[in-house]
Amino acid sequence: MTDSAQLATHLDAIWPSVMDDYLGLLRIESISSLPEKADEMTRSAETVAGLLRGVGCPDVQVVAEGGQPAVIGRFPAPEGHPTICLYAHHDVQPTGDLSLWSTPPFEPTERDGRLYARGANDDTAGIAVHLAALRAWEGKPPVGVTVFIEGEEEVGSPSLAAIMAKHADALRSDVFVICDATNWQVGQPSVTTALRGICDCVVEVRTLDHALHSGGFGGVVPDALTSLCRLLATLHDDLGNVAVEGLKTGQVPDLDYDEARLRADTGILNGVQWLGEGSTVSKIWAKPAVSVIAIDATSVASASNTLAPVARAKVSLRVAPGDDADEALAALTRHLESHAPWGAQVNVTAGETGQPCVVPYRGALAEAADAAFTQAFGVAPVQVGCGGSIPMLADFQAAFPGSEILVTAVADPDGRPHGIDESQDLGDLKKAALAEALLLAHLANS
Ligand code: BES
Ligand code: MN
Repeated sequence: MTDSAQLATHLDAIWPSVMDDYLGLLRIESISSLPEKADEMTRSAETVAGLLRGVGCPDVQVVAEGGQPAVIGRFPAPEGHPTICLYAHHDVQPTGDLSLWSTPPFEPTERDGRLYARGANDDTAGIAVHLAALRAWEGKPPVGVTVFIEGEEEVGSPSLAAIMAKHADALRSDVFVICDATNWQVGQPSVTTALRGICDCVVEVRTLDHALHSGGFGGVVPDALTSLCRLLATLHDDLGNVAVEGLKTGQVPDLDYDEARLRADTGILNGVQWLGEGSTVSKIWAKPAVSVIAIDATSVASASNTLAPVARAKVSLRVAPGDDADEALAALTRHLESHAPWGAQVNVTAGETGQPCVVPYRGALAEAADAAFTQAFGVAPVQVGCGGSIPMLADFQAAFPGSEILVTAVADPDGRPHGIDESQDLGDLKKAALAEALLLAHLANS
């Protein structure tokens, strides 16, 4: 059954069961960053394992190495055929303010062809695609398949190295298909060839050894919060370009992000200017980006005309493909330490780092993927960069240097991963599933 029309017809027939799997997973609150959700993480891993057994996988195990549980399922390779690893993650981000959701995040709801739920795209859609492709093959894929569903991607994969070391033989594959990026647009399949890395730090500014009345001494001593604001303001120039010295810029595909679409995808307010110079995709894919993602300071409600002695901010830096996340974090730290206003004491605590990644798209794998995506979507895939980060890609490249990686997507730019009202286009979900089923056929014949 390698004929694409036949696979498509079969996928249509089994689609209700694919949706059942997907909806069932979306009802589980698998938030890896919240210790109180540990039982839900276990339930989520066990559910994925059960679904894999249900699609005919003969060898399924839930594994953990001191962190969140992951699932490894293996379909042995038919003689003479390659093994393809299908990766996604079953953990999701916290919901944020529940009152802001149009419908509850763990009660998946369809509206206008999109499914709304936490994880709807990132990355439960990836799991649904893998399960659908295997169902389309009735559990007998034409290549060896290893399904690897990680449980802690959203917290930087702290125990992934240990899982990979312990289960290296189970995971070793000719091709890793990582379904966790974003398509260029709804209906436009996309292969991601460059991803930014990430690092962060907490910067603390101190100016006084105790708080003071702002009337008594304001005007002669700098308060910590104003000092912190001035320090953070040095991270960009007036045009919004990142002003941290020592950061690199990468090479990425060049596509034109239409401004009207960018407006719609981002929801930028009237009159607000775009940051920085250069093309939009160069700024979201090729260059570093710095954002202040949190501040510890007196809340407006409890303000009391006081000069604060200390203030703190968490600064996040997206690292260009081709740069090194540890070196980028060192550059950010140097910048913060050397730009203290008014002699304020600055203390920087390094946070996490995740490496950026360049993923070549070429040869037989690119031919197979081009053919599969074109058949499933009716248009050829485009190559894109990704402003977000999948740090485990660099770990896979290091652990399996002889293997190839294909970074695919189900999500689109309006999917709001990590945000309120995260959603997934259901038409693209089905096309992505068909593309992956077809990809297995093309790889079997390549
Ligand atoms: N699926 C995302 C990566 C992504 C983000 C793709 C934005 C496309 C657009 C992934 O699950 C993710 O969120 N990664 C984290 C990594 C971090 C926790 C180390 C990220 O980018 O913040
Ligand atoms: Mn994510």
